Amino acid sequence: ASNKKLLILPGDGIGPEVVREVRRVIEWMDRRRSVSFDISEGVVGGAALDAEGSPCPDETVAAARAADAVLFGSVGGPKWDSLPFEKRPELGVLRLRKDLGLFANLRPAVVLDPLADASSLKADLVRGLDLMIVRESTGGIYFGEPRGIEIMADGKRRGIDTEVYTEDEIARVARVAFDLARKRRNKVTSVEKANVMQSGRLWRAVVGEIGRAEFPDVELEHMYADNCAMQLCSRPKQFDVILGSNLFGDVLSDLAAALTGSLGMLPSATLGAPDASGRRHALYEPVHGSAPDIAGKGIANPCAQMLSFAMLLRWSFEMEEDAKLIETAVQRVLAGGLRTADIMQTGMARVGTSVMGEAIVRELDKLSA
Ligand code: NAD
Ligand code: IPM
Ligand code: MN
Repeated sequence: ASNKKLLILPGDGIGPEVVREVRRVIEWMDRRRSVSFDISEGVVGGAALDAEGSPCPDETVAAARAADAVLFGSVGGPKWDSLPFEKRPELGVLRLRKDLGLFANLRPAVVLDPLADASSLKADLVRGLDLMIVRESTGGIYFGEPRGIEIMADGKRRGIDTEVYTEDEIARVARVAFDLARKRRNKVTSVEKANVMQSGRLWRAVVGEIGRAEFPDVELEHMYADNCAMQLCSRPKQFDVILGSNLFGDVLSDLAAALTGSLGMLPSATLGAPDASGRRHALYEPVHGSAPDIAGKGIANPCAQMLSFAMLLRWSFEMEEDAKLIETAVQRVLAGGLRTADIMQTGMARVGTSVMGEAIVRELDKLSA
């Protein structure tokens, strides 16, 4: 039996379509590199609602806890959009992050050479871009209390969400960002709105304290989140690691995706704290969602899911060489001219999800021959 326990949660919409292409790579690894995983599959999101009546059944949480790593597809879709809040498919991923303590969501945005002119920006502004967004992922306005929609005295409704951060929550995700920066270009840009939000004031103060006390060698810059959005689409190469709250990190990572040519290219890793033996819970999910507008058409870009699997190999199984192989294979397939429909580039031949997946496996074959 393999010592690499992998739980796969395909979810909804294009989730199962892009996860299928990763399965091809897993089979290839088994066949050609004698790497085997102990794989189980579970339900989450709308698929779990349909099968079990809950977007994140207890068995799924237990299986995720027992696994060494979770590969997650995507959840949500119009079929479930009008359900009550507690039943929404999106709670599937939120509960997994929360229950497993996955507080650091790492979202690299890299412009691959062949896609430099697929960017929403001029190629010169993005060629060689390589930034990392570290998004806090178990706190802030996603989970703060009170929340809800209530009826006021005059019979009208009001909607409430609460942004709350404790200093420990800020400090632990800040350490992840500083640590990463040391292995990269040694710079952290911490974003908040300390000018209007109390949690933002605390965020700026705590990140500054951690930086001065523990990472004096890392350059730290504070930036308002709105300015960061503007800077990202005018001078993105100034950034190395961007650190932000759950909400700001979410919004800025979709923005960063457009710089790389497509949301279909961006992977992520959502990590918990290592325990005494160095083991940590981790979930690997593309930045994109279930893409209901193209689900079932066989045209989704599998690269974000594929690159999320590469991150899984790197962060959970210390398989740097295999991670690199997959990343190189993706890059070469793109260099060879294949494009799924989402990539914003003119004059290219368009292929579907499985042609892309098969091409990546063929490239892996060549690379390891
Ligand atoms: P989305 O990311 O699903 O799609 C946004 C746009 O990008 C769509 O036009 C879509 O077709 C395109 N796109 C996304 N991924 C693509 C891919 N791999 N290949 C080609 N095109 C791709 O965001 P949305 O439309 O705002 O949300 C749809 C559903 O997904 C909602 O229910 C939302 O809550 C959910 N969602 C889930 C996750 C997740 O599971 N982690 C993340 C984001 C959104
Ligand atoms: C993401 C998604 C999720 C989020 C949703 C589906 C809960 O947008 O992973 O980026 O907001 O965290
Ligand atoms: Mn998002």
